[in-house]
Order: sequence, then C-alpha cells, then structure tokens
Amino acid sequence: MKKPLLFAHRGFSGSYPENSPLAFQMAAEKTDVDGIESDVHIAADGTLVVFHDATLERTSNGTGFIKDHTFEELLRLDIGAWKSPEFAGQHIWTLGQLLDFCRDTGLLLNLELKNYEVFYEGLEERVIHEITKRKMEETVSVSSFNHISMQLFKKLNPDIETGLLYDKPFLDMDAYISRSNADNMHPRYMLLQYQPELMKLYHDNHMKVIAWTVDDPENIKDMITRGADGIISNKPDVLCSTAAQENI
Ligand code: G3P
Ligand code: MG
Repeated sequence: MKKPLLFAHRGFSGSYPENSPLAFQMAAEKTDVDGIESDVHIAADGTLVVFHDATLERTSNGTGFIKDHTFEELLRLDIGAWKSPEFAGQHIWTLGQLLDFCRDTGLLLNLELKNYEVFYEGLEERVIHEITKRKMEETVSVSSFNHISMQLFKKLNPDIETGLLYDKPFLDMDAYISRSNADNMHPRYMLLQYQPELMKLYHDNHMKVIAWTVDDPENIKDMITRGADGIISNKPDVLCSTAAQENI
C-alpha cells in the first residue's frame, strides 16, 4: 500500500482554534503531517486572509462578512477564545503569513478558495501572485467547490495543481472530469465508499484523490486501503498514528 499525503484540516483544528496561528504551529510541532489544509477570503481592503466561514460570528468575536471588513479591523478580532478561554489572543493571518510559515516549516499547503458563497473578484489572480512571488508552485495546491474558479485558475497558471472539491454524488462523473482541466479530485470521503469505482476512474485519468475530512481510525484505514493519495483530518495526531500502524 502506498502512503498517502497527510494533511491537518484548518491546522490542528480538532484540538486548537481552526485556522489560527496556534492550530498551524501545533500541527507542525506535535504531528508528522505532510501539510496543512486552509481556506482563503478577500478582506475589504484587498488583503487575502485565512479563515473558514465567509462570516465572522462562529469563530471570532466579530460580526458580519469578511468582505466588509478591512484587514486592520479583522486583526483586532480574537479568533481563539470561542474554542476555549485558554486560546484567547489568537489573531487572523494573511495568506502571506501562512505561506511563509509553510515554506519555513517545509509543510505542503492545500489552499481552499472560498468562493462559492461570496464570489470574490480576482481571487484566483491574487492567490497566484502570492504563491508565485515566493516560488512555491511545487508545494502549494489549490482546491474549491467552485469548479469554474478552478478551471480559470488552471488557465491562469498551469504550474499549480488544482482540485475539485465535492460533497454530493454526481451524475456521469466520467464525462464531468473529461471536460475539466483539474489535476485532482477532493471528495468528501464517504463518496468513495458510496461509489468505490470512482477511485479507479480518477487514477485512470491521472488525477490524485484527496479525501476529507477523515477523523476516525477505521475510515482513515479504509481510505488508505482504497488507495487515496491524500487524507485531510481535523485530528492530525490520529491520522498520523493510524497511518503509522498500517506500516506504510
Ligand atoms: O478541503 C476539504 C474541506 O476543507 C472542504 O470543506 O468546509 O471544511 O472547508 P470545508
Ligand atoms: Mg477547507
């Protein structure tokens, strides 16, 4: 069996505030993951920021949409205390800070463009600019539920790997991927169990398969057995120890 690439979803988000500097640092320090998965939006002043939701309420002490706040305003928010008072004092990172962190720690980055609720104009070009100015085309890949965005991204820069995220079964996936210019497929992991034949279809089309979000040993082992090329988990400690037990 081959060893899949192991990714910490929103950093070490099972134990630390998701997409916070602490969650990224703990994934690097406490686990053996190959990379980080994270999410990017555009603030009102054009700054690319790392955050999951399009709105602030769930994981910060702010309100409203990210797109309506400048980075200076977002930086004043606490993005740790919602998880637990002990994590107070965490502040939002720019994409540039996350890229520098990944370069310095040697971690891969799978960056999700969050452009399916808010359609950020120019997000693809801005993300490409941040990656290429650091020459990180080989270690950063992108993904999105917005497959039109991924098609555009690939046209704008063929050197950076793209992936199609999806969370529901599709009709006629064979025809869908043959029209796509994407490098990889990013299914919610249950979909590979529901339609086991898809793994072969993707691999026959030279696509890597990155499954998310897999947190329990039984399903992590199942994804390894099925030949997933990457696994994304909220529990990167469980992910790494389970993969190690499989002797791969
Ligand atoms: O990349 C996998 C996963 O992050 C997709 O969904 O909502 O957790 O960003 P979400
Ligand atoms: Mg994501």
